[in-house]
Amino acid sequence: MSEESVLYEVSDGVATITINRPKRLNALNVATVQRLRDLFQKAEQDDSVRVVILTGAGEKAFAAGADITEFQDKDSSTVRPLAENGQALCTYIESMSKPVIAAVNGYALGGGCEIAMACDIRYASANARFGQPEINLGIIPGFGGTVRLPRLVGLGVAKELVYTGDQIKADEALRIGLVNKVFDSVDALREGAMELARRLAKKPGVAIKLAKRSLNNSWVLPLKDSLEFEVDVFCEVFDTEDMREGVDAFLNRREPQFKHK
Ligand code: COA
Repeated sequence: MSEESVLYEVSDGVATITINRPKRLNALNVATVQRLRDLFQKAEQDDSVRVVILTGAGEKAFAAGADITEFQDKDSSTVRPLAENGQALCTYIESMSKPVIAAVNGYALGGGCEIAMACDIRYASANARFGQPEINLGIIPGFGGTVRLPRLVGLGVAKELVYTGDQIKADEALRIGLVNKVFDSVDALREGAMELARRLAKKPGVAIKLAKRSLNNSWVLPLKDSLEFEVDVFCEVFDTEDMREGVDAFLNRREPQFKHK
């Protein structure tokens, strides 16, 4: 497959990963999912990258789901890797040490919605549409949609979305907590996502990593275990250079210069 199906660019400590199959509304074929995984790994391993933005090429789609043309010849004995690889990509994004912002610039359907949900923060343009339309193909979400959607928006709303397969507009996604912010245009979205990414890139990296881990734990672990974990990582950040710098900068009324150590 051509490497062009996903683009990768780094500037100001921000890696932008762009799904680039606009003629297919950035549908996620097997090769694209693999390429995304490789590029997220590249971003994770590059110390100069502090934040990742995931978006789609063009003005119409973030990703209109898994590539349906790859479904025709599949049955239960051959389809498993498709779901497992999609889930592995989402789990990888979620477990990365760096914040990942989904800049949703149009359709985020099926796997597109599922990947966006694995990101830390979702910003959307007003033309964005979210949904899990798998039911209309006689199937169900397989990249983690039945698991992450209810955690984000509540079980009742998630059931309605998954059972109907309906698309919702950006303002409705904002109302139910599926996105953090909506921008008037795709250009404004790209600018807004970059502005947030640049701000986060300046924050202390170890504290961001441990805060992300603790927040993620709160989603899946019992309260007691999550709270214990928070105490452990709260202690850990007190051994960082950035903690000394942050406290000293506050006490001396100056801007902190974090080194992510
Ligand atoms: N897989 C493969 N191809 C897809 C695709 C997908 N998930 N989504 C869109 N495409 C292709 C279309 O087949 C079409 O290809 P063509 O030009 O060769 O005919 C092209 O992308 C443009 O899509 P089109 O349907 O013509 O655009 P539209 O504006 O009329 O409709 C959608 C947009 C998103 C509503 C519609 O494409 C759609 O419903 N896509 C499938 C969404 C889905 O079910 N996703 C979950 C999959 S599990």
